Amino acid sequence: MSRFIAAIDQGTTSTRCILFNPQGNIVSVAQKEHEQIYPQPGWVEHNPDEIWKNTQEVVALARIQASANASDIAAIGITNQRETTVVWNRKTGKPYYNALVWQDTRTTDFVATYEKDRRINEFRAITGLPVSTYFSSLKLKWLLSNVKGLRADAEKGDALFGNMDTFLIWHLTGGAQGGIHVTDVSNASRTQLMNLRSLQWDEKMLKEFDIPAVMLPAIKSSSEIYGYVTSEVIPGVPVAGDLGDQHAALVGQTCFEPGMAKNTYGTGCFLVMNTGNEIKLSENGLLTTMAYQFGNQPAKYALEGSVAVTGALVQWVRDNLGLIRKSSDIEKLAKTVEDNGGAYFVPAFSGLYAPYWRNDARGVIAGLTRYVNKGHIARAVLEATAYQTTDVVKAMEQDSGIELSSLRVDGGMVANQLLMQFQSDILNRQVVSPAVAETTALGAAYAAGLAVGYWKNTEELKQNWAIAHTWNPAMEEHKRSGLYQGWQKAVTKSFGWME
Ligand code: G3P
Repeated sequence: MSRFIAAIDQGTTSTRCILFNPQGNIVSVAQKEHEQIYPQPGWVEHNPDEIWKNTQEVVALARIQASANASDIAAIGITNQRETTVVWNRKTGKPYYNALVWQDTRTTDFVATYEKDRRINEFRAITGLPVSTYFSSLKLKWLLSNVKGLRADAEKGDALFGNMDTFLIWHLTGGAQGGIHVTDVSNASRTQLMNLRSLQWDEKMLKEFDIPAVMLPAIKSSSEIYGYVTSEVIPGVPVAGDLGDQHAALVGQTCFEPGMAKNTYGTGCFLVMNTGNEIKLSENGLLTTMAYQFGNQPAKYALEGSVAVTGALVQWVRDNLGLIRKSSDIEKLAKTVEDNGGAYFVPAFSGLYAPYWRNDARGVIAGLTRYVNKGHIARAVLEATAYQTTDVVKAMEQDSGIELSSLRVDGGMVANQLLMQFQSDILNRQVVSPAVAETTALGAAYAAGLAVGYWKNTEELKQNWAIAHTWNPAMEEHKRSGLYQGWQKAVTKSFGWME
């Protein structure tokens, strides 16, 4: 039996390759950051060629670190930043334009038109999603309308659309020499073009957004052999797992039963609750989305609360304000003060996502007095993540009727003790992190491993999950409610900037 499963985690800021053993433990990790391109306020792009190059490098490096041959790797799974939209030429592999990143707000005008003229509730009923700059639909419409020659090529079948999973699988399996053009149900559910019931591209949605069906990938399950790697970095290895990163983290946290939820603290925060076979339409601003589908088993659905800016705010404080040298320094700075000093930071850089869905919102710092110093700002920055998560948990509990007994957490910001304790305090719930913190990559590895029999079933995967750390609430009720009211007031100050 091959020794390892490989996972590629193509995220918003970097690409990683991790090799796992049968216990779900990490054997080797390689990571490379890519450039964030901001051509105008609100525009965010990535260079797809850079990402493909980085992918090959990290796969090669992770393999070398583990002294693994291609034959030591039973399968590879892909997980990726979702919604980010790329179009490329089938014959040359050349992208027509940089990838439009999920945070990009250039389609704000489209949103306004759709909100005014169209039956947006119908969109929600079909796809589970509101009209927003967030999803792939409007990004693809923008590319088709603005990139010269693209629409004609798309109609001829020469231009292919994909999210980063599709783009990488196509390259890994041969690229212009016969690469496979596929996605999985979880990624497809974030395009706003897939029908949640049929799990196929929806003709009505394609018509609404004027998108030629011929440019779309085939929709597959999240766990099956799609094809084999031809690239020399791991030739012959089956590509057997594909999950959007938040869905992968749900799998990596082994949230396989309805009612189980995880929250991932990355660039943004994404709380996902498994709702089993049930398509639950939200009444509180959450998204209805796919959880995952393993092979020909029934597809599982989820409710999701997506928050656009959490870790990205810490990066902004580092890169744009220079208040800290490295991201982890934010905790030290926040610890120089006792509390937020009355200051709140609402990081509505890309509007506000769940549960507000305000495309017109922009960032504000509220509650400033002469008393406030940079320690208070650092604290407000961290607290913003916990408040936004709390907004989403409240919506999730109302929609599902389930009170979360504890919140399973993962992602880079979980290392921040101050934030995790504050999260537990403000939420008034236990917060737990798993022993294997790399749940996103692990979920993609699990999907690939299940497809090739490396792991037998989800029961076996559950045995791998263990708690690393627990945070318990320790804040008095009057303090908690006072702080949360302050946050809610600050949120209202971020509305109405794009009118
Ligand atoms: O929906 C966007 C999300 O998938 C991005 O995740 O971890 O790359 O910021 P991350």
